[in-house]
Amino acid sequence: MNAEVKQFERTLVTSALPYANGYIHLGHIAGAYLPADIYVRYKRLRGDKVIYIGGSDEYGVPITLTALKEGITPQEVIDRYHTANAESFKALGISYDIYGRTSWPLHVDTTQQFFRKLDQEGFIHTESVELWYSPQLERFLPDRYVKGTCPKCGYTDANGDECEACGAQYAAQELLAPRANVPGDTSSPVLRQSRHWFLDLPRFAEKLKAWLDGHPEWRANVKGIAYGWVNDLRPRCITRDTDWGVPIPVEDEDAAGKRIYVWFDAPIGYVTNTRQWSMEVAGDENAWKRWWKDPGTRMIHFIGKDNVPFHAVIFPAMLMGQEDYILPDHVVGNEYLNIFNRKTGQSEKGSKSRGNMISVRWALEHLSVDALRYYLCAIAPESKDSDFDWDEFMNRYNGELCDVVGNFIHRSMTMTVKNFDGSVPAVGLLEAEDVAMLDAIAEQMDAVADALEMFRFRQALERYIELGRKANVYFDAMQPWVTRKTDMERTGTTLHVCCQVVKALCYGMAPFLPEGAAKLASLLNLRLSGGGPDGGPDAWREALVRLESGWKLESPQVLFPKLDPDRIAELAQMHLEGQAF
Ligand code: MF3
Ligand code: ZN
Repeated sequence: MNAEVKQFERTLVTSALPYANGYIHLGHIAGAYLPADIYVRYKRLRGDKVIYIGGSDEYGVPITLTALKEGITPQEVIDRYHTANAESFKALGISYDIYGRTSWPLHVDTTQQFFRKLDQEGFIHTESVELWYSPQLERFLPDRYVKGTCPKCGYTDANGDECEACGAQYAAQELLAPRANVPGDTSSPVLRQSRHWFLDLPRFAEKLKAWLDGHPEWRANVKGIAYGWVNDLRPRCITRDTDWGVPIPVEDEDAAGKRIYVWFDAPIGYVTNTRQWSMEVAGDENAWKRWWKDPGTRMIHFIGKDNVPFHAVIFPAMLMGQEDYILPDHVVGNEYLNIFNRKTGQSEKGSKSRGNMISVRWALEHLSVDALRYYLCAIAPESKDSDFDWDEFMNRYNGELCDVVGNFIHRSMTMTVKNFDGSVPAVGLLEAEDVAMLDAIAEQMDAVADALEMFRFRQALERYIELGRKANVYFDAMQPWVTRKTDMERTGTTLHVCCQVVKALCYGMAPFLPEGAAKLASLLNLRLSGGGPDGGPDAWREALVRLESGWKLESPQVLFPKLDPDRIAELAQMHLEGQAF
């Protein structure tokens, strides 16, 4: 555990707002969404006060470009993907308290307040910059509207402001061999002056450094990127030549035809969505202030590693320039989920052009929520990239969740219900093995909790499975199917202990596999409710309170049906053919 553990009253969890410009895929889920959801579900079980904020990121050049290329409006683009992605998240059990939109009118107000305050405090200035301009379209070509050769690595399909191949960011005029990336525009872009608004990041350098120094516990990958930025801060352009975005709240004729840059407004979306939640759900329009302005709130951002600079440097600086806002206490930055290609035997990056990504929509048409959540947590790319591999998916789900946990629950409940009239048997004299098994419940549940508190989701899941392993070892050693013929009391004691393990397995399962846990809870006649925004009882501790002898149980059902190898081979083939998106 950390040296100094600060006690917080409430936890505000966010997951990166995905662009409403494409369907979310399993790579997104394994990084920024599933771990956050597991954490939030765990916190709720603990009875802690917690809210989970998400939503769509709906401005920016990728969206207007999609609209242009498809001949539809940006509004149509965001409506399509916002709706689809909100549904995908819901179907996967990602339990947001609100899933908002940066196109909400309220977001204009929040974003402009942030901008104005920074401006009043003198953190914003304007500069004239040279940008690419299309003589044919008579407009500037921001970001991806212009493509060319990367000045750093020579990649010929680089964007106007950054290179996807090498990760370099550069000023527009550094781009070599520019060409317009707009259908029908055949003119050669030329450089023209345009006046823009800049955030004076260097002025936050000392404060940012001190704040980062206060978080030695963050993952090395996040700290590395954050310090890299903080040690080399430059003023950052926060406006663009576009009409799709939040208007710049200044009286200035140069602001016409320009909007606030999407990366300025997007993280403010977390605040907007919390405000909306206050009105819509909490029924108190000021409720959001407790979550954003009270130092008793612990804010945690779950993101992919490409988002680290924004969440660990730029947004914190923007928050520092406001009045009374808290800063994130943890930025959980994840690596990437790659795709294992069975044909080539190689791991490859997920990419739209390769057509190798697996959308959540497609995956859920063919697979269960719990199977997906199990595997994606088991291979979560926490400290290094990991691979999605169909064989490993089947083997781990079948071999661990089904064979270890599912099997133990099923055989314990079957024997109990059959031999003890559908209820928890009386407990007799406890042998050393029984005591050891009962002790192991608390140990493993603590180990799961500790790992979750430290954002080690893979480890938490392993600890959970370990409880199932120990339980199977116990079951095999005690042989209730043998003792049943000679010693009913002994058999009852064994199954009594098994029922306690099953109960703990149910609570421990809940953060990871909400569907399986809900089913099991109903078989055990238990309720898995804890806290939420207002907190509540600590249900996680309830897991250790023993079921009494005589407690009614329902007949067991299969919680985790096994994956069939032929079916998996079919799905893997569809994936290989690019049909999984
Ligand atoms: N839309 C961005 C992406 O997908 C993430 C935005 S996170 C936010 O990379 F905090 F800015 F909203
Ligand atoms: Zn490059």
